[in-house]
Amino acid sequence: MKQSIYENSRDVFLDTVDAKDYIHFEKLSAIYDSLRNSIEKPLKMVLLYGKPGTGKSMFLSKLHESLESSQKVCLYKTPILDESEFFKTLAQDLYDMRYEGELNFTQFIKVVENRELGETAIPLILLDEAQLYTTPMMEKIRLLSDTRKVKFVIALHKTEKEDIIAKEHFQTRIWESIKLENASAAELKIYIQKKLMKVNCIDTASMFTQKSIDLIHKLTDGNYRDVNKIVYTLFDIYLYYANNNPSKINQNEISTKYIEMAAIHTGLIDA
Ligand SMILES: Nc1ncnc2c1ncn2[C@@H]1O[C@H](COP(=O)(O)OP(=O)(O)OP(=O)(O)O)[C@@H](O)[C@H]1O
Ligand SMILES: [Mg+2]
Repeated sequence: MKQSIYENSRDVFLDTVDAKDYIHFEKLSAIYDSLRNSIEKPLKMVLLYGKPGTGKSMFLSKLHESLESSQKVCLYKTPILDESEFFKTLAQDLYDMRYEGELNFTQFIKVVENRELGETAIPLILLDEAQLYTTPMMEKIRLLSDTRKVKFVIALHKTEKEDIIAKEHFQTRIWESIKLENASAAELKIYIQKKLMKVNCIDTASMFTQKSIDLIHKLTDGNYRDVNKIVYTLFDIYLYYANNNPSKINQNEISTKYIEMAAIHTGLIDA
């Protein structure tokens, strides 16, 4: 096998968020449908939550990409923490309105309330990393959503703070919550193989036996970010041996030993 296949296989597991790399699972399409459903409902804000590395940012990117051509949708990957800046950015992105000075909440909500929607779908705002917004800011976002002239999808990871937010905001009827979880072993297999197939690395995709998938699942608990780390390092090991000592590798199946080495290297298990 050519060395470059290990390099290409390795690089698909770089931890990046780009809608073009999105991989579809059955579970995700169910989530996608329920999200589309919630978007249609009046007075529903959508909360997307889950532990770090469960694919929230990836999901938002995909949602943004697939809705973009049919409706107004804005994605904010990092929170805009200054309030005036936040409302000004929204005014600009939603309505093409520019403000030179400050724009406070009272002024902005008036702008939103006065919008005529006509036939067009309610504009959608996707907020990632929303655990960083303050509680008063979340309250304002909720009030904006109450106008029914704009809709929010809010993604946040579980922190202790989230439990506080959960009590105060997310258990009321206005919220629809959707939880993202780690991959099951079966999903993990699809994830790894589809990633490799996308870059035509069919040979390395077929090296993953059920045994190796199960071991990676055990080590990572199916967390996509940890899976990326371990598989990236695994192919780095293969690349090293392909270059320096090809007799050390079996090109037909992934060796358990190298998975363990990768796990030690990435800190998933102690040496
Ligand atoms: N459906 C998917 N298709 C392809 N890759 C995915 C998918 N879901 C997750 N990933 C991969 O897993 C990595 C982690 O996912 P992501 O960054 O979306 O997690 P997150 O839930 O937003 O984490 P955090 O809470 O730390 O922001 C991504 O860089 C991406 O490579
Ligand atoms: Mg994220």
